[in-house]
Amino acid sequence: MTQPTILTGIRANSELTLGNFLGALVPMVRLANQHSNDCHINIFAPDLHSIISDIDGELQQNIVHSLKYYLAAGLSLNKNIHIYRQSRVPAHSELCWILNCIASMGDLGRMTQYKDKSEGKDSVNVGIFDYPVLMAADILLYDATYVPVGEDQFQHIELTRRLAEKFNKKFGKIFTLPVTPEQQVKFMNVADGIRIRDLQNPEKKMSKSTASENSKIMLSDTPEQVKKKIMSATTDSVGKIQFDMFNQPGISNLLQIDALVNDLPLQDIISTWAGETHYGDLKKKVAEDVSVFIGEFQRKLATISDQEVLDLLAQGEDYANQVANAKLLEVQKAFHLR
Ligand code: TRP
Repeated sequence: MTQPTILTGIRANSELTLGNFLGALVPMVRLANQHSNDCHINIFAPDLHSIISDIDGELQQNIVHSLKYYLAAGLSLNKNIHIYRQSRVPAHSELCWILNCIASMGDLGRMTQYKDKSEGKDSVNVGIFDYPVLMAADILLYDATYVPVGEDQFQHIELTRRLAEKFNKKFGKIFTLPVTPEQQVKFMNVADGIRIRDLQNPEKKMSKSTASENSKIMLSDTPEQVKKKIMSATTDSVGKIQFDMFNQPGISNLLQIDALVNDLPLQDIISTWAGETHYGDLKKKVAEDVSVFIGEFQRKLATISDQEVLDLLAQGEDYANQVANAKLLEVQKAFHLR
């Protein structure tokens, strides 16, 4: 029980961009593999969070599909790595209710995500408002110390810390506080937020929701699509291949992508191209490298069966229920519910 826990919730995405993959998924897999001997690693699908908005009938299938991405990206299947679905561990909802009784409306009303999602709406469901409390339950049930998430979730980590502190002050040290967002970033050790840019509009982040197909590379793209998109990427009129995100975001983005798909330090790629001026050559190389990378990933993905994922989930859910129920019992006792 002295091993620290690293925990993260991954939204079920049926389709990921190369940006999501290289910027978030691959770093998470690397982190998990690095620590799978000295930490528990909990990677779960927050399906109760998913239902705050209308979902289609594909939720379960999407969860399995998203988890396959992690396996295909090389997540090791060590005994310390646990994957599970939130809704299969009822302690999450129960602890959420209990934490609701110490959380304050004012605090929740100040959450940026809530404000963004409720702005201009006539009616907002309570789940959207309560989202961060369920998230706190997800984290506190497992005494997670490290919670690798994107910047948009930092406020929720802070809230989790405040709730845990308030609870511990009242009832004794029952919960472990996750470390602060600054410490999380240090722990993740990701080179200053890798941000893959939109190919057409490289001032912006590559995003799934961008309408233009040429702006984004999807993990399901064919080699021809990948090549066409990269060959038509926006560049600049500077005429030098160098890394300068400010003045040459398009070229810099291509250099960054090439480094990541080849798993090489960015500096190596920059040196290789130093003094070169033909953007077309760079594009051809990056197009080739990315299509090989995606092709290999797709081949690996195709070898993973649904059943394999379902078996891992069953194991993970056994483990998660044991840990979560033990923690929940402590909390229930503190509240005289047991
Ligand atoms: N809110 C997270 C996101 O949108 C997903 C999530 C739910 C999560 N519960 C969590 C992440 C607990 C970390 C820990 O990405």
